[in-house]
Amino acid sequence: MCGIVGYVGENEAVPILLRALKRLEYRGYDSAGLAVVGNELSCFKDKGMIDNLQGSLPPIKGKVGLGHTRWATHGKPSKENAHPFLDCEEKIAVIHNGIIENHMELRKQLIDEGHTFTSETDTEVLAHLIEKHYNGNLEKAVLKSLKLICGSYAIACVHGDEKDNIIAARNESPLVVGIGNSENFIASDVAALLDYTNKVAYVMDNEVVRLTKEEFSITTIDGEPVSREVEQVNWTVEDAEKGGYEHYMLKEIFEQPIAVHNSLLGRIPDLTLNGFLDGRFNTIKIIACGTSYHAGLIGKYIFENFSKVPVVVEMGSEYRYSEPTYENTLIVLITQSGETADTVAAAREAKRRGSMTIAITNVVGSSITREVDYTFYTRAGPEIGVAATKTFTTQLIALYILGIALGLIKGTLKYDRIRELTSTLRKLPRYMQSVLDDSENIEKCAMTMTDATDVFYIGRNINYPTALEGALKFKEISYIHAEGYPAGELKHGPLALLTPQTPVVAIAPRDHTYEKMLGNISEVSARGSPVIAIGFQDDTELSKLADQVIFIPEVPALFSPVPITVVVQLLAYYVARERKCSIDRPRHLAKSVTVE
Ligand code: F6R
Repeated sequence: MCGIVGYVGENEAVPILLRALKRLEYRGYDSAGLAVVGNELSCFKDKGMIDNLQGSLPPIKGKVGLGHTRWATHGKPSKENAHPFLDCEEKIAVIHNGIIENHMELRKQLIDEGHTFTSETDTEVLAHLIEKHYNGNLEKAVLKSLKLICGSYAIACVHGDEKDNIIAARNESPLVVGIGNSENFIASDVAALLDYTNKVAYVMDNEVVRLTKEEFSITTIDGEPVSREVEQVNWTVEDAEKGGYEHYMLKEIFEQPIAVHNSLLGRIPDLTLNGFLDGRFNTIKIIACGTSYHAGLIGKYIFENFSKVPVVVEMGSEYRYSEPTYENTLIVLITQSGETADTVAAAREAKRRGSMTIAITNVVGSSITREVDYTFYTRAGPEIGVAATKTFTTQLIALYILGIALGLIKGTLKYDRIRELTSTLRKLPRYMQSVLDDSENIEKCAMTMTDATDVFYIGRNINYPTALEGALKFKEISYIHAEGYPAGELKHGPLALLTPQTPVVAIAPRDHTYEKMLGNISEVSARGSPVIAIGFQDDTELSKLADQVIFIPEVPALFSPVPITVVVQLLAYYVARERKCSIDRPRHLAKSVTVE
């Protein structure tokens, strides 16, 4: 996720672009840049946050310009990889939020045609593609270029010889036009515009906008004119940054379908991880902390199912002090921030022990990436809420993809099965969306848990870790004690704690443990505990046994943690909101734990 802005009007562009960019900093903050059309096209960019850019900016004059704040997905955070990108002649500047899926083949083709690239990013191909198609009309060149790219994008571009317009376009990444008096704006979201206007027009997928200081016009990607109403928004800047949601956590929960979709883009054809993996290991160890550790526990089921290689999962803080053993182990480290001290130290220790290491992280260029042999990036975008949500579900996506790669390498997955698995992966954003569409019902169920002092989450097999994650999310933001348990373990102790005041969330998709889960639900009900069950659509059996049921779409059991996680995140959120807890910044917790 990055932030983009554009300005065309009667004022100097630079101060306006900088102010708007500061409003978008929550969308990304590893590097930033500006391009302004004055007498000629000037471009300036730097690593770091907007203040850094502002501090090092030379005087640039011009009344048309673009600005970008980046959250890296391709290419490390650096000055070279910051936006805007220029064509070979340095006449065209492009900014982009999203992912160009086919950038590798386009890059190769453009290099063969004589174009020179200066960065590792996917975006730069667009600057060269537009250059290739430019024939005195930027809008036409953009339309032709967009036909050749696959992926998600919100882009904006300017040309040094066209001093009165900006061309922008959208597919699957947000873009909004701001309408002022003799000035117009383009931005990733309304937050960037509110200092200047509250009149906006939303750009839809596969649409292209031409913006001058007097007007804006929209066409489809095929050049057909589109009319769009101008709307008035009455949000504060803070509301706008949260996209109208009350908390960042809720916004991030609702962003999960797109985060998962982005994390899948371009990954399925590359299941061998660019040839990195070979089959020399005979065990796998997954190392992580907190929510990422729960992703690791789910990863164990995925890897063992797909590759038949035995997997152990360890907490970062435990691994470093464990006794080195002699197996030929592949180490997979999971950390959304890439900075968790225990996980980074574990990566160092694994290297010292001679293991091959892979990191799964959401932050390009973070500390862990410098310690490991291979990094798999999730593409969740920045997560502001302390409680991990979209970074967790995108970690699961990384684990499915890695698991398929392991199965391929070990020869345990045949092509038909891989096709089946990848087809389910592609449907996950839809399944998650259908859970989000049921949020009112989930909220109703949550309201029955707000006065509890203890809550249990139970599940079996791959949903035992989902229960652990549900309990962690619940306790960290609602401050109610919650525990996750393998359902079969209840009778070995915890049953003694169950009372009518102890709600139990039972995760019971119709899989090979289903009958046993029904037995556990009856066991719990018999002790008088209210049961909130999570199961597959139209499961009448479950409806009879549980006090309340939350249905999710029927999905192959191995993938069920993805939609079920959305349910448990929402349960935690609604309870915490009702109890007026500090949801985005729970007490005593930090987003990035850099102490051991
Ligand atoms: C809980 C949560 C934490 C983190 C843990 C590890 O919601 O966010 O438990 O999962 O601190 O963080 P990363 O993944 O950055 O290593």
